[in-house]
Amino acid sequence: MSFRVGNVRLEAWPPTPACGSGHTKTRATAESTGATKLMDTIEFRRILGHWTTGVSVVAARTAEGTLFGLTASAVSSVSLQPSLVLACIETGADTHNAIAAAGAFSINMLSAEQEILARRFAADDVVDKFEGVGWRSEVTGAPVLEDVLAWLDCTVWAQYPAGDHTIYIGEVQAGDAREGSPLVYYRGGFGRFQP
Ligand SMILES: Cc1cc2nc3c(=O)[nH]c(=O)nc-3n(C[C@H](O)[C@H](O)[C@H](O)COP(=O)(O)O)c2cc1C
Repeated sequence: MSFRVGNVRLEAWPPTPACGSGHTKTRATAESTGATKLMDTIEFRRILGHWTTGVSVVAARTAEGTLFGLTASAVSSVSLQPSLVLACIETGADTHNAIAAAGAFSINMLSAEQEILARRFAADDVVDKFEGVGWRSEVTGAPVLEDVLAWLDCTVWAQYPAGDHTIYIGEVQAGDAREGSPLVYYRGGFGRFQP
């Protein structure tokens, strides 16, 4: 499923399983009874849409120097010792195999002023997502985008298949953050954080 905002086409997020019409059944365990029930994926997406997240660009650079990146909200801290984070990346995304090949990725946490980057890196019809986007290498060689609110530069510590996504666990090699306000995502729309 995709939707168009301005002149870029965005993939809907959370995603509809590739095999489904949007009404495919997804297994969910009912803990109280131990029974397994089926949840409609549209309902699954509707519920998850209520989970407010930050917005990042997860990016990688292959040995040949090709840059890949996608907008990602399924990002989380995992461990303090060692410093581990995770990013869940759809197996069909171009960036998916690039991360595995590079063995490294960056997580670029976007500021409220960077919605345009979020839309650009979520679009599937932009030929070169990095055109006109400033970036630099830090430790691993993964591209760190200019002016982001915060960034982490990671080597792949482990990767686990999880349905139509791979959970990439990254060991943090470098990172930094600046003052500013984050871009947030809630029920299919971008917004700003208001304390
Ligand atoms: C707000 C938002 C959050 C997203 N989060 C993720 C995510 O965590 N993981 C993922 O695989 N795709 C996510 N997507 C979808 C990808 O950004 C989209 O499929 C992208 O076009 C893939 O790019 P690529 O094929 O160039 O790697 C998200 C999209 C949006 C709009």
